[in-house]
Order: sequence, then C-alpha cells, then structure tokens
Amino acid sequence: MILRRVFIVNPALLKCRYFSSTAKPLKVQEPLIVNNAKYKRDDWTNLKPRIQSYMNRNIYLQDHHPLSIIRKKIVDHFYKSFVTNRGSPLFSVVDNLSPIVTLEQNFDSLLIPANHVSRKKTDSFYLNRNFMLRAHCTAHQLDLLKSGLDNFLVIGDVYRRDEIDSTHFPVFHQVDAVRTIRRDKLFANHEDLEIFEPNYVTNSESIITNDANGKVAEAGKQPCHTLEAVKLAEHELKTVLVGLVKHLFGDKIKYRWVDAYFPFTQPSFELEIWYNNQWLEVLGAGIIRNEILEKSGISNSIGWAFGIGLERLAMILYNIPDIRLFWSTDSGFLSQFDESRTTAEMQYKPVSKYNQCYMDVSFWLPDTYTLDNFPVNSFYALVREAGGDLVEQVKIIDRFFHSKEKKNSLCFRIIYRHMERDLTKDEVNVVHGQIRDEVKKEFNVTHRI
Ligand code: PHE
Repeated sequence: MILRRVFIVNPALLKCRYFSSTAKPLKVQEPLIVNNAKYKRDDWTNLKPRIQSYMNRNIYLQDHHPLSIIRKKIVDHFYKSFVTNRGSPLFSVVDNLSPIVTLEQNFDSLLIPANHVSRKKTDSFYLNRNFMLRAHCTAHQLDLLKSGLDNFLVIGDVYRRDEIDSTHFPVFHQVDAVRTIRRDKLFANHEDLEIFEPNYVTNSESIITNDANGKVAEAGKQPCHTLEAVKLAEHELKTVLVGLVKHLFGDKIKYRWVDAYFPFTQPSFELEIWYNNQWLEVLGAGIIRNEILEKSGISNSIGWAFGIGLERLAMILYNIPDIRLFWSTDSGFLSQFDESRTTAEMQYKPVSKYNQCYMDVSFWLPDTYTLDNFPVNSFYALVREAGGDLVEQVKIIDRFFHSKEKKNSLCFRIIYRHMERDLTKDEVNVVHGQIRDEVKKEFNVTHRI
C-alpha cells in the first residue's frame, strides 16, 4: 500500500521504470481538462476527446446554419406571441450557458428520482461523479428561476450517449422554455378563482407516478393546483406550441397531443406531427412541478415548460437526410441556407464529396455603375449560366472605392465542384476564362488581373 502511494505521488519515478523495464507502469491519472478547467477523474469519467471536439462549435448561433434559422424562427414566434404591457418581448433568451453542469442541476433540481433510467452512466457524458455535459436544457431551469427570470427560453447544445445513425448523434440542440403566470394574469377575468387548492401540500410525492422507465402516462394534475388553473395554463401552453408548429410547417400540418411522463412536470404531454406517413414526436411539455417553483421562491404562480429538439425540425423542414450534415463546414452545404430565403427555397440538395476549387474574378466597374447599384443578381445568373453545374457557389469577397484611381472595384469568389469527379485545374481555368469574358462583355468591366 505504502509503495503504491509512493509511486503515485512521484510520477518521475514511474517514468524511469517505464523506460528501463518492461513492467507495466502504474498510471498516474491526469485531470480531465474541459474548456480550460481541470476535473479530477473518477470511476464516472467517460467524456472522450471526440465528443469534446464538438463543444464550443456553437453551430446553433452560426449565420447561414439551418439550426440557427430554426432557432430564430422559434424565438420570433415567442417574441410575437407574448409581449409586455409596453409592447416589448416578455421572454428572455439565454443562449450562452456552458453545457458543463452538475448532476444536481441536470437531475436533482428537477426532481428526477435517484433510480431514474436517465441517470445511467451509459446514457450521458460525465466529467466525473459531480459534473456532466447537460443532457437537456431543462438543467438550467431552477437556477434561472432562482435568478429572477420568470419567462425565458434556454437554447444550447445537449449531449447524450446514443446510438449513431442518420437521426441520432451524441450532440444535438434544444430550445427549452419556462413561463410562469401569476394569479392576477391567469384569472384576469375571474377574480374569484384560485391557482391553489385550500390547504394544499406541495410535496405529496405519492400522487406522482415515478415510474423508473419514465413511460407512465400520468395525465392527472398536481394535487396543489385547482383544475381551473391547470386547464387555463395547459390551454395557453398548447395554443402557443401548436402555433409554433404551424409557424414552422404551415397551417395544414397534422398534429396530436399524447400524454407523457416527465419527473419535472405534471401533467405532461408530447406533441407529435404527421410526417412521412408516421407520427413523429417533436417536443415534450407540461405544467411545472410546484416544488420547483417553491424552491425558486415563487409562490403565487403556475408555470409551464417545454423542450424541443432543433435537429429533427430542421431535418423535416429542409429535407436534410443525415444528422451529421449539421456539423459540416462545407460551403456547399452551408450556402444552401439563408434566412432571407423561404423554406421552399432551402430544400436540401446533396453535396458532392469531390474536391472544391475556387477562383476569384475582380474588376473595376465602368462609370455607369456604383458599388451599390451593380446588379449583383444578374452577375450571379450569368455565372450560373456560363459555369453550369460546375459552379457550386458564388460570393462577394471584396468591394471598395479606390480614391486615387477614382474607381470602384468588386471581387467575387467562384467555388467550383463536380458532382461525380475531381475537377482538374485546366478544366476550371477554361470555364473561369469563359466566365471572365462574359462578365466583361455583359457589364463592360475591366478585369484587374
Ligand atoms: N427536458 C425534456 C427532454 O429533453 C423535455 C421537457 C422540457 C419536457 C420541459 C417537459 C418540460 O426530453
């Protein structure tokens, strides 16, 4: 025992042994470093570098990213649906919280029972027995309520050890929401009604069906709430979420509510939409367990919450066949998405796996054009026409006024790629040369190089 301790506290000795003999060295446990902080490893540690490489990518905040477009659509819907008396948005948006949370935040704060399946080591990524990567954005609910926020959206990356197939990936994104409604708002037209039953006791665990598999459909209300309060809050929750689904998928979308079980809401529901001839679950929701509000110091309100996954919505909306595509940095993928386009204009087209190759065209504009009135769209159309299918993307990379020459200059980058083979430099040169000629003819420009 003592010897072992000596070895552990003196790693230099260990190294000597390692080089001078064939004996297996005792491993000194380096701490796990995540986002520049050190975490002591223990028997729960299962976070590996590959998953860490997805952290801090923030693709849900990245311009032109389909997940970011969906995020904005959801935020817009909430901004429009709930406004304060002064006309400003009621919901705060929190989208920059670190995904490293305590087990307390991810589970205990949400009344998730000690034996619940979701706590299994095989289901989440643990830094050690105290810290993990959040498995849902609901992990921040109690803290944000405690901090004084009462209506908010939490947006971020979440991590689960899942199988990897075309619809599952260990990292995905969620928007979670909390709304609390005070009695005077909930019953604005019925001052005689109450949120709480007389003499209620909040902590009546017995009535909650804590099924360890989380499968039980418990539709009943919490004993502390009046039926009127629950029904009104439930109605508001369902109305705004059906509104969201219609906002995303159009008025004709077929949907249904099914009863569900979450340890932190009761009653709980899931919303399913009819897609590709089957019902697909898109979100979980429910009336917040009053214990959570009580712990936050909120006593005169009823609350609802929901959590929605972004990848599934984006895959349906834009016909994206594989969840891994969201991590693509390929401009052939990203250039297909732009907030200014309609959903119909953003239907996914397969990206070639062959090499991209780019060449620039830069030119002086004739006096007939300014930087602002040069017909950029006609330019793009011309490039498409002359370059055909080889042109994957065209983007403006520079525009300036040369004060000495008194001339305007524009520079575009054309990205070439074939769908079925690698292009040769010569081949691209020929097409690029044709494009240059056409541009000169059409817009009377002077090429700079
Ligand atoms: N956190 C749940 C999940 O990830 C979703 C949820 C959020 C359900 C809030 C109810 C209320 O599946």
